[in-house]
Amino acid sequence: MKWSVVVLCSASFVFLGGAIPARAAPPSGAALAQNVCSACHGPDGNSLTPSFPKLAGQGQAYIIHSLQDFKSGRRSNPIMSSMAQSLTPAQMDSVARFFSKQKMSPGTANPKLVALGQRIFRGGLPKQGVPACMACHGPDGMGNEPAAYPRLAGQWAPYLVDQLKAFADGKRKSTNHGMMNYVASRLTPAQIKAVASYLQGLH
Ligand code: HEC
Ligand code: HEC
Repeated sequence: MKWSVVVLCSASFVFLGGAIPARAAPPSGAALAQNVCSACHGPDGNSLTPSFPKLAGQGQAYIIHSLQDFKSGRRSNPIMSSMAQSLTPAQMDSVARFFSKQKMSPGTANPKLVALGQRIFRGGLPKQGVPACMACHGPDGMGNEPAAYPRLAGQWAPYLVDQLKAFADGKRKSTNHGMMNYVASRLTPAQIKAVASYLQGLH
């Protein structure tokens, strides 16, 4: 009973159409994804709007970590902070498992930005103190599941740019002693744009 109320409340705020079936049991990850998250992240986690991140194929541990951060206030976003409030740890687990098992849709890179983006991703910018992104995000940008490091390959470039700027400004605080704050604050806007475009096309 409690869960049908929560789902109805959060869903009524974003739901685009159709009726939500009343449920006695807590909704499964798949049901939550369909009824609530799909409005922004797409039914299978492949969002159509570049400011909403793709969740399909993202690591389960990283999705759980992000939801916990939104819930605790460590990471703040007007939409996601309230969205995460209504999720129990078991639901975070289940919805994260559902999205991690979906396939991320491929993206494309701007050919003019590939060379610089690839250089930053693979080798970093030693003169600026920027480490290679792939050291943590994996040689193919698929992330590191045991460490909860996010997958970046195929993610929307505009979303990646937003996050890198938020890290650079300190609006988003990173784990690992602020590692991403350190990295992002050493990149110029043009370098951020190039590496984000490269990552969107990486598959
Ligand atoms: C009304 C739109 C909306 C809905 C509904 C929504 N989200 Fe989000 N979500 C966003 C936006 C916008 C962001 C980017 C937030 C930011 O910039 O920090 C986001 C970010 C996230 C992230 C972080 C991804 C990353 O790569 O760091 C996760 C995880 C997430 N959402 C999970 C969910 C889950 C699970 C649900 C359903 C229970 C859900 N979202 C419902 C809009 C939405
Ligand atoms: C030492 C490890 C490390 C290095 C090197 C590193 N990252 Fe990260 N990155 C992380 C971790 C850990 C997170 C998750 C931070 C959090 O949620 O608190 C992250 C998060 C991100 C995110 C947010 C993803 C999302 O879905 O919201 C982006 C974008 C990103 N990194 C880009 C880069 C780029 C570009 C580089 C290279 C210039 C880079 N990272 C280098 C560890 C690293």
